[in-house]
Amino acid sequence: MTSARPDFADASSRAALARKRAAGHTLPRSFYVDPAVHGVDVERIFSRHWIIAGHVASIPRQGDYFLYDIGYESIVVARGENDAVHALANVCRHRGSRVCVEEYGHSRQFVCPLHGWAYDVDGRLQSAPNMPEDFDLSSHGLPTARIEVVDGVIFVCLDDGGDFSPVRRDILEYLAPYDLVDARIAYHRRYLCPANWKLVAEIFLELQTTGAAFAEMRQVMARAEAAAQRDGETTRRYAEFAAAWRATARLPHERPTRRGDAPAIDYACRREPIAPNFVTQSEDGRAVAPLLGSQSESDGGVTVIRLLAGWIVACSDYAAIVRFTPIEAQVTEMDVTWLVRSSAVEGANYDAARLSWLWRANVERTLKLASDNQLGVNARRYRSGPYAPDEAALDAWVTWYLGRFV
Ligand code: FES
Repeated sequence: MTSARPDFADASSRAALARKRAAGHTLPRSFYVDPAVHGVDVERIFSRHWIIAGHVASIPRQGDYFLYDIGYESIVVARGENDAVHALANVCRHRGSRVCVEEYGHSRQFVCPLHGWAYDVDGRLQSAPNMPEDFDLSSHGLPTARIEVVDGVIFVCLDDGGDFSPVRRDILEYLAPYDLVDARIAYHRRYLCPANWKLVAEIFLELQTTGAAFAEMRQVMARAEAAAQRDGETTRRYAEFAAAWRATARLPHERPTRRGDAPAIDYACRREPIAPNFVTQSEDGRAVAPLLGSQSESDGGVTVIRLLAGWIVACSDYAAIVRFTPIEAQVTEMDVTWLVRSSAVEGANYDAARLSWLWRANVERTLKLASDNQLGVNARRYRSGPYAPDEAALDAWVTWYLGRFV
């Protein structure tokens, strides 16, 4: 007789699994390979936490929409009247068909393909052709998800999600100088990574904290090069450089905002200097596009905002939104959107290849590193390993994750 595999539907089985992780160590193998754990991640993490869905520049006109799918859930993010942005459940109120089937589109109405129920872009049901005349249209609109738009960046939550106002305040403080409301999409790439989303996120977190394994990041970021060198003299020189930059930087910097006693929302905002004489994160340090927002010149810094498994990186002249979404236990979607000032013209003011160089390289390197990491973790000989002192941020993030998992 064989015992059934746990599906982790009950808290005690999830807690028992979580207890298998030794403090300060990577997660046990099943967290990275087990479809049942993937199901919990989608249900308890991604379906309950705030996530970055995209940017309003993807839906510039009333009636524009895009879909964002998480597990079985599908959200229609649509531009409605008066520039309002809506997050609607992509589930017909008649018999449950998906209403929108194209990933991007433009429509005056969302018409269900099965029997033609028609909803306006705010989600209100406008007509239901097969129903009696006295059918109450007003009580059969599409369900909504919580949505917040902060400086053009769209955040959604399929559940209550907790109080977003502190997150909004902090993110707005960091993003306001870039005025990303006045931005257009310069470039977009999407990848499928054959690795669990947590392996992808851990490597991307590592990129942000040390970055020693990322050649392009070392070329651009003085902090990454100092972390890679690991010698006292380089560390001292970097500390002096960073201190001098902090003394003159005009924008807010270094105010981590995550993890109080009640870490309902996992996010962090920070600024740091790029490298001496670099005005942006480009291959040669020179500008790659017109300045964003109200800036009159670059202060040589970069803003990094993270929310769960999404990142917003803002330089003086471009921004990138990186979004990781779990697809299967060992498949993660990596979506990257680059933004420039709305008046910028490709060819005249920017070159997409030059603009996207660093974060394309970072994401593609993450894809390869995470894929190799997954292959190792899949092996029966994998054992949880200890985090190094400079991996403290990863350790803290995994601890946060386990709190939400249980
Ligand atoms: S399921 Fe949508 S109209 Fe019938």
